Amino acid sequence: MSGPSPVASVPEERIVHDDREVDALVLGDLSDFFNPFLRHFAREALRCGGEVRVVPPSGTVVGLYLYHPVEREGSVFTRDRRIAAAFRPSPGEAAVYADFDLAPGAEPFTIFGGSTSEGTPPHRYSHAVRLAAPSDRPAMTQLFREVYGEVDARWIDSAPGSREFALVVSVGPELAGVGWVTLADTAGRLHSLTVHPRYRRTGVGSDLVHARVAWLRENGVPEAISEIDDRNVASRRIAEAGGFVPRGRIFRSPRS
Ligand SMILES: CC(C)(COP(=O)(O)OP(=O)(O)OC[C@H]1O[C@@H](n2cnc3c(N)ncnc32)[C@H](O)[C@@H]1OP(=O)(O)O)[C@@H](O)C(=O)NCCC(=O)NCCS
Repeated sequence: MSGPSPVASVPEERIVHDDREVDALVLGDLSDFFNPFLRHFAREALRCGGEVRVVPPSGTVVGLYLYHPVEREGSVFTRDRRIAAAFRPSPGEAAVYADFDLAPGAEPFTIFGGSTSEGTPPHRYSHAVRLAAPSDRPAMTQLFREVYGEVDARWIDSAPGSREFALVVSVGPELAGVGWVTLADTAGRLHSLTVHPRYRRTGVGSDLVHARVAWLRENGVPEAISEIDDRNVASRRIAEAGGFVPRGRIFRSPRS
């Protein structure tokens, strides 16, 4: 009589130390949405003093783990729940993003997507939107600190860069709002939309969504995605008004 079938073990992790190792990775198909961004995400995690790990240690990567120490958040990219669950949390990690809910209390985020050309609803701008310059970084850092608390100024230094850009709205001398775009060849990721509380409900957020979609279109990028916390009604409304539709889901799972 044969016993229970053996459970296949999860392969070991390998630490990726530098950009040269990131460039050499052979990445498998790890995500419906994030494949075009993964090498950039890994480089950014390292640049900000974080961690990058892969499974298996050699050959095609089927699981990628990234960690940002200031946000204390990890991200896992894999098609396999077992691999997602097996990645060792970094010390201090408060939560991890993945395609799977990995712990009780996991918070769902909807991935919104849209074509940058077809069906973009017309928009009447309430504010002038411009591309952020390096001189905007201190004001962006200040805005993020006021809204979110602790923020890693190192990631803010990434825009403007070759992959990260920020569009901003100024009102007089003040930075009223900012929205970031990560650029890949086939898609752009809209993230970190933040409006100063004093300027909310005056159309700044909508302007920044439409302006970023238009900017992607002008740069020949056909698709845009954005992850939005299901509890964030304001952000969801703005995305939907910008022509975005739900395409998928990820989860932010707390780590005990
Ligand atoms: C979400 C956020 C960017 C919205 O910016 P905003 O400039 O206030 O948005 P807008 O003025 O362009 O609002 C456009 C529409 O969105 C909806 N909306 C905006 N804020 C809303 C809220 N608090 N509740 C419900 N709907 C809201 C409304 O339909 C609004 O149109 P209306 O004012 O004519 O009713 C802003 O509240 C913010 O910075 N929040 C904190 C950070 C955050 O959650 N960022 C999103 C991360 S994905």
